[in-house]
Amino acid sequence: MDRKVLKIGQISDSHIGKDGCLVQEIDVRKNFLTAYNSKFMKNLDLLVLSGDLADYAEPDAYSFIANVLKDSKVPVCVIPGNHDNVEVMEKFFDLKGKVHNGKCYYRYDIEGQTIFFLDSADGTVSSEQLSWLEEETAKVDGEVLLFLHHPPCHCNHKFMDLRYSLKNMDEVQATLAKIKNLKYIFVGHYHSEIKVELGDKTVFVTPSTQMQIDPNISVFCLNSAAPRWRVIEWGENFLETKVYF
Ligand SMILES: [Fe+2]
Repeated sequence: MDRKVLKIGQISDSHIGKDGCLVQEIDVRKNFLTAYNSKFMKNLDLLVLSGDLADYAEPDAYSFIANVLKDSKVPVCVIPGNHDNVEVMEKFFDLKGKVHNGKCYYRYDIEGQTIFFLDSADGTVSSEQLSWLEEETAKVDGEVLLFLHHPPCHCNHKFMDLRYSLKNMDEVQATLAKIKNLKYIFVGHYHSEIKVELGDKTVFVTPSTQMQIDPNISVFCLNSAAPRWRVIEWGENFLETKVYF
């Protein structure tokens, strides 16, 4: 029997700050809610918050998001980004069984399908996580998906590639190359919409709900302060994805 087509919403890099504060003059809470309440985000099977939920790990930020999500019937998977702190996040989100040696990584099984989540908050994916990923993906019959905050490759983004790319990219790519039942990887961090082919895999970089950064200039240049987010439909031998704004 064909597997169910899962509809997954991805919100990334919301960079929410202290209560009552704009972040870089942007109403990031309003932007988050625009994405969350969008008509394109209805009837989700899963919502993923792929890191940099907060601007500087502010408890107010996690409290705001947890409060927005509290009545949601949709399961939510969160991972930290480089602006987050797992210890603070644990106070607001149920990360039971998902934090190992201070890193938040786990598999999530839904409707007979398996999705993996990694923690790249310190700018690397630890060897411990890479070994775990290799072992766990080998146990899954059929294709898996992977979410992490940092792209595991350069993305032809002149500003982010130069300054903020994943530090142990070679090690991460060597592990990913061994995982044959992984074709699609979803990330954030770059505040841009980019699609990159990485060997037999495709990396989808999801833009931010805070603001977008111009990928064509090597200094910081704000492209837009409007929120963007992604919807993914994933089934057997099937994947469609689109960014909305
Ligand atoms: Fe980031």
